[in-house]
Amino acid sequence: MSDSLNKHSMHSHTCGQLRAPDVGRAVVLTGWVAHRRDHGGLIFVDLRDRAGTTQCVFDPEYCSNTVFSLGEKMRPEWVIAVSGRVRERPEGTANPDMPTGAVEVLLSDCTVLNSSETPPFPIEDGIETDEALRLRWRYLDIRRPEVMAALKLRSDVTAALHGAFNKRGFIEIETPVLGRSTPEGARDYLVPTRLGNGRFYALPQSPQLFKQLLMVGGIERYYQIARCFRDEDLRADRQPEFTQVDLEMSFVNEADVLGMTEDILVEVLAAIGLKAEQTEQTGVDVGVGGEVARVKQAGLDAGVGVNENASCVPDQVMTGIQPGVEFPLPRISYAESLSRFGTDRPDLRFGLELEDISALVADCGFKVFSQAVAEGGVVKAINVKTAGELSRGEIDRIASVAMEHGAKGMAWIAFGRDGTEKSPIIKFLGPEVLAAVKAALAVEPGDLVVFAADSFDVVSDVLGAVRLYLADVLGLERTGHRLCWVVDFPMFKYDAEAKRFVANHHPFTRIKDEDVAKLESDPAACGSYSYDLIMDGYELGGGTLRIHDRDLQMRVFKAMGFSEEEATEQFGFLLDALRFGAPPHGGIALGLDRLIMLLGGFDSIRDAIAFPKTSSGTDLLTGAPETVEAKQLKALGLRLS
Ligand code: AMO
Ligand code: AMP
Repeated sequence: MSDSLNKHSMHSHTCGQLRAPDVGRAVVLTGWVAHRRDHGGLIFVDLRDRAGTTQCVFDPEYCSNTVFSLGEKMRPEWVIAVSGRVRERPEGTANPDMPTGAVEVLLSDCTVLNSSETPPFPIEDGIETDEALRLRWRYLDIRRPEVMAALKLRSDVTAALHGAFNKRGFIEIETPVLGRSTPEGARDYLVPTRLGNGRFYALPQSPQLFKQLLMVGGIERYYQIARCFRDEDLRADRQPEFTQVDLEMSFVNEADVLGMTEDILVEVLAAIGLKAEQTEQTGVDVGVGGEVARVKQAGLDAGVGVNENASCVPDQVMTGIQPGVEFPLPRISYAESLSRFGTDRPDLRFGLELEDISALVADCGFKVFSQAVAEGGVVKAINVKTAGELSRGEIDRIASVAMEHGAKGMAWIAFGRDGTEKSPIIKFLGPEVLAAVKAALAVEPGDLVVFAADSFDVVSDVLGAVRLYLADVLGLERTGHRLCWVVDFPMFKYDAEAKRFVANHHPFTRIKDEDVAKLESDPAACGSYSYDLIMDGYELGGGTLRIHDRDLQMRVFKAMGFSEEEATEQFGFLLDALRFGAPPHGGIALGLDRLIMLLGGFDSIRDAIAFPKTSSGTDLLTGAPETVEAKQLKALGLRLS
């Protein structure tokens, strides 16, 4: 690799390349001046390029006065080319922390290729510079090794993805960026055009419909690393433009799509050095049996979601790449995930699971609890192991997190190590109920139990958030990566504002065969062939099997409140395609930016993107979005209100 980096270039070696065996070699290096140190008579310059840093020495005994005086003038971030000879660093001056630290280059010549103003922040790792300043000068930020490494990681992952897809017969196809606005989903970015005043393209939120049309076109296996655009509120894991690893397959069932996704992930993780011990698996029986075993190993209920009718077993099993990353991945149903973790994107790197104690407290003397159950709600608790000695102030902070997420209060019981109990509610519960709750939660001295009583949805939100907060404040170990599938989402959720059902994933998702009959009578009870890939508590990907039957697709649109005319007007091209032999198909899209964020251990998705936008959607470097000239608006037939 190093040699190919030097071919067709001004330099003979990179700044990260030279080692002890190179001593004596004549070399040419190019790069940026990272530091300059004047040691009275000798000048040391650390020269940096994307591969690393090499110490260069200006010694007047070995170079001309002109060259030495260049060394004296040298400033940080000047761009130079130097030639000289590699020598061992003198006794006691080697730097074992630096890959090139055993050697230095004694310069005979130096050319200044460009000077530089003083950068607005130091070009080195671990700086505490405000992110806005870094983004304003992002190209300087990119010179910093840690940012460079993030971009390299992204490139390595993308390269591995291309390889993995190609090997498996996927055809890479680019779908349009100028498309048609579809109202389901997030808000579109609209693009006016002077060719059709009053009409707009929309930037794609995903290639969803085109990839389905490609299946009707007989492509069978499609993939694309696709830029997508959504005009939605931004968070630490969301950008207005982001990249999907998008795939679609024909003649598959759900197990096939999941198995294929896992195979590709195994290959990609191995390619970036997450050491994989890969064993060949032969035959379906071994695969399914192995899956049960490993799911158990991962501490999850093997009974749920293990797919007995797998027709496509992952062809490799990776063990021990990182604690918990084991393939095949555990599959948890949506219902189970909500019930155990309060969320459909569980972080499995720690416990603190939710326990339903509704039955135990239904008739207890604490009204908040008994009433919640009587009204059809639930009472759930988390046993926070070893947190019984938290201060009152700390417990109050947990309660305020609960309240921020919709709780009306947060009851708690602190069990002291000495057997004492502190709690605002113990007196209402009575000794029997207290004993039952303690048994159900396996309470030991020193534990803290927190409660939420409300509707199932509110309790899930509240304790889901409390669980994450507790992991933070207790500093629970969350190293390594844990991935899982969450499967079997309900087809619809009710949108109280719009007063209609909307699709949980999207309207093209196939309803479970056994639920099709309920589509009109009980949409809320319809399950779907749908799956999310969860990594460390983030939604890394989502996909579904699709409807390939025109009548069923129309029935789904109708269940969502579309008239036949509205459905035809908006999705006629899809409905048409379904009339001409659409094969059964399904797929998934993974968020590439999120994957890089998680693999790189970054706090923000911005760290995974070369030129990201801020949380208010601004590009601090170019200033986009910006106003445009009146004549541009006029040509588009637009007037601002
Ligand atoms: P979905 O909407 O779940 O599915 O998107 C797939 C994945 O894309 C990533 N993602 C984002 N990443 C960064 N910023 C955003 N604003 C953002 N929005 C989504 C997430 C998410 O899991 N067409 C379907 C896929 C399918 O059914 O095949 C789709 O787009 O990681
Ligand atoms: P109160 O009787 O309203 O003072 O509540 C007694 C305790 O129950 C307090 O610690 C409240 O925070 C808590 N509490 C109130 N409402 C709820 C609720 N819906 N779920 C859990 N705890 C609650």
